[in-house]
Amino acid sequence: MEKALTSEKIIILDFGSQYTQLIARRIRETGVYSEILRHETSLKKIKELKASGVIMSGGPESVYSKKALKFDSKLLDSEIPILGICYGMQCMAKHFKGKVSSSNKREFGNATLKINKGSIFASLPPKTKELNVWMSHGDKVSKLPKGFKKIGSSNNSPIAAFENTKLKKYGFQFHPEVTHTHQGQKILKAFVRDICGCKGYWRPKNIVNSLVEDIKKQVGSKKVLLGISGGVDSSVVAALLSKAIGKNLECIFVDNGLLRKGESKQVKKDLKRGLKLNINFSDSEKLFLKNLKGEYDPEKKRKIIGKTFIDVFIKETKKLKNISFLAQGTIYPDVIESSGIKNGKAHVIKSHHNVGGLPSYLKLPLIEPLNSLFKDEVRKIGKELGLPDYLIKRHPFPGPGLAVRTLGEVTKKKLEILREADSIFMEELNRHKLYDKVSQAFAVFLPIQSVGVVGDARRYEYVIALRAAETTDFMTAKAAKLNHIFLNLVSDRIINEISEVSRVVYDISSKPPATIEWE
Ligand code: XMP
Repeated sequence: MEKALTSEKIIILDFGSQYTQLIARRIRETGVYSEILRHETSLKKIKELKASGVIMSGGPESVYSKKALKFDSKLLDSEIPILGICYGMQCMAKHFKGKVSSSNKREFGNATLKINKGSIFASLPPKTKELNVWMSHGDKVSKLPKGFKKIGSSNNSPIAAFENTKLKKYGFQFHPEVTHTHQGQKILKAFVRDICGCKGYWRPKNIVNSLVEDIKKQVGSKKVLLGISGGVDSSVVAALLSKAIGKNLECIFVDNGLLRKGESKQVKKDLKRGLKLNINFSDSEKLFLKNLKGEYDPEKKRKIIGKTFIDVFIKETKKLKNISFLAQGTIYPDVIESSGIKNGKAHVIKSHHNVGGLPSYLKLPLIEPLNSLFKDEVRKIGKELGLPDYLIKRHPFPGPGLAVRTLGEVTKKKLEILREADSIFMEELNRHKLYDKVSQAFAVFLPIQSVGVVGDARRYEYVIALRAAETTDFMTAKAAKLNHIFLNLVSDRIINEISEVSRVVYDISSKPPATIEWE
């Protein structure tokens, strides 16, 4: 990435907080590049990266515990401005000979922070005496380290914020990155801009220009292959590559027959005509449905779809000449998940596949222009590149498509019913301006039959479940509280307009223990 853009950067050291990615995103929203590194990253490395400042995240351990996550203590003695949040603050307190004690009461949720004068709070409106903040901790700082000044307290945490302006070290027991903390973003901005001295080059227009320059440099006059799905990430990669290398971009779009109503046509219209991409379409519905025939197991269905996709993609690739690179829509959270920044390995609940396995089959060097961006940044640069709003704001759609929303065996007939029901649900969500208020919504085909009466006739037909989730990270989610009048309306339309459906249910389960998709 172009130097100026990342010449100022904030490093976030991850001590295992559930909010680490959120901190990184919030810093970027202040207009400054941020990068997440493991907690034990050395001062030497941080200096090599020319960090403008460091944030030490929260974490689940106690600083005195044997399991306490280590860090390079020389960092705290360096001149680099550092903000410690929660566990990060406690590490700072211990290092500078303050004291941390376990609370007999956990403090979790909203709290009132009483503010004393502190340089980091200087940007708040002048009369601010108290702030509503978000707390999530067991331990707390019980003795101020030498040379530090207390700048905030709450009922449960008498030392909830401290600073040493000479050393440029700051600590908060509360979480400024969480939206429940009032003025949290302002406080983070004060750290990044006023204390670390960053100017704020990280803006969509600069990011686009920089990525385009990088692609031009990497690719030269060679050809790049990209698999597009109609989703946000691959569309933004397509738009970027098209801007950088024009006709040297070859796209493959595999219609697996598992897409939503009208989706394939819409992709053609927007990407082929709108962006003037070279798109090689493969209509492979029959092959996918043939391979899925008789399969009921969700994981086996995913594997079949993954393998069929690779087969089709490779067959299509063979028709193209002189391809030198394969582009992918990998985004920063994917890199974080797979790079070992995170501690421990997550249990595989579902084997997610996008274009899994492709690089090793094709043996082509990869181009991943979005691999340092969060999803909201991908959307912002998509807008900057002129992609239509509906495409940018689209809910995520799983690689195996409607196959994991058609429970059990997948057939063309069931897919058709599901497509109609899903399209009615989407239409109504949009009409009632609810689509953008939920993170992901869709219909699910349940292969059970239920009795209903339509007019005077008895019907014994299928069931459709509606799912609408609210989430920020898709790791946990709550069912959206859609109002009953709205749900009634969607249900009536589905049952009246689709004769094969006699009942509609709304899924109210949270993740965990349920997942967002039904399979
Ligand atoms: P779950 O169902 O695991 O979904 O709670 C979390 C998010 O991941 C999406 N998802 C998938 N995406 N391939 C994908 O590309 C898959 O196999 C897959 N399964 C789930 C899901 O739509 C949600 O956004």
